[in-house]
Amino acid sequence: MERDFHMINGDGDKSYAKNSSLQRKAIIATQPMVEKAIQGVRTELQPQSMVIADLGCSSGVNTLLFVSEVITTTSKKIPTDNKTRKSTMEIQFFLNDLPSNDFNLIFRSLEQVKQSTVQNCTNRGLQPPPHYVAGMPGSFYTRLFPCNSVHLFHSSFSLMWLSQVPEHLDNNMNKDNIHIGVSTPPLVAKLYLDQFEKDFSRFLQLRCKELVPSGRMVLTILGRKNSDAIHGGGAINSNFEMLSQALRTLIAEGRVEQEKLDSFNMPLYGPSPDELKQLVQQSQLLDIVDIELFDLTSDVVEKSKLEVGATAAATQDTVHEAIGRNIAATLRAVTESLFASHFGQSIIDDLFTVFAHNVTQQLESPEKKGSVTVISMSLQAKVPKR
Ligand SMILES: C[S@@+](CC[C@H](N)C(=O)[O-])C[C@H]1O[C@@H](n2cnc3c(N)ncnc32)[C@H](O)[C@@H]1O
Repeated sequence: MERDFHMINGDGDKSYAKNSSLQRKAIIATQPMVEKAIQGVRTELQPQSMVIADLGCSSGVNTLLFVSEVITTTSKKIPTDNKTRKSTMEIQFFLNDLPSNDFNLIFRSLEQVKQSTVQNCTNRGLQPPPHYVAGMPGSFYTRLFPCNSVHLFHSSFSLMWLSQVPEHLDNNMNKDNIHIGVSTPPLVAKLYLDQFEKDFSRFLQLRCKELVPSGRMVLTILGRKNSDAIHGGGAINSNFEMLSQALRTLIAEGRVEQEKLDSFNMPLYGPSPDELKQLVQQSQLLDIVDIELFDLTSDVVEKSKLEVGATAAATQDTVHEAIGRNIAATLRAVTESLFASHFGQSIIDDLFTVFAHNVTQQLESPEKKGSVTVISMSLQAKVPKR
């Protein structure tokens, strides 16, 4: 993962920056939770400099939206901002992702975003705090920060990525699948859960060392409502089922070897709210302040209608084709690096073309396409007993 995995870099048509509007909706939906966590830090901890880290920040508008929302929130006065405080609070942001993330894209656009956020705040009579932004490359499954140094961790749409393909998941155990599909044996689903439990528990332990006592976390994770990981996985499972199907088409055409498919598994797990709650409780390190479930619907249908709307000849078929293409582009922006390192770059265009075609063919209810469940948790570190 640390060597190969990255979203599609840059800001071209195929980039993550241009194909991440669903993830953006999660940042917008969870903004009130982030705002409450920030106000909690300000009132309870009253730091002179608040340290905030965004883990799995990626690059593009979503990264910058989070930075901008925090600046706006911290520009608002709170009751404890009284005269006894000598100087304004400052903010230190750390933007974390794996080393091959496009940090340059973030830093190239940062100044402009900072300026427009400050301008918006000033227009509304708010005074933005001095703020500083740094990159922090590295896996969030390792230590990233000094002990007791961070006030708020934020992570959106990143923690469903595992540190590795589940341990003990050997070739041929999940034949014909690349993730948890309907024909996946229960043992394989259990190995996925085991790996998620191991990774998420480790993540909580590491972050709690780095958080100041009573520090906060807001974690938003792509997940599922249902306890059944095989049949209740929703959009995650169905998209990967369709990608397996596309790979099988390429096998039938002699473009990919069966053995390659049987030895590939996506290092991703969408947990249920109960699984998450249980892991937080087992850690005994954090209290759950709030947990919310959001059903997010991507704007893929509207985007596709707009794209083809300009053509007089637009029919339902052309709209459906555009939906297939756009869903493929969203998934490709996130997963291409993993497919390319296992199957080779040469099949990538065809893989996602076949996938887009299959999506188009199977569009029974386009309005529902692209809707996913995300679980957002607001956590507070317990104060260690002396
Ligand atoms: C789907 S993107 C989400 C990006 C952004 N937070 C957003 O909401 O648009 C997931 C990000 O998590 C990062 N990621 C996955 N595993 C990671 C790890 N172990 N450590 C740090 N970042 C990781 C990926 O590189 C990717 O940029």
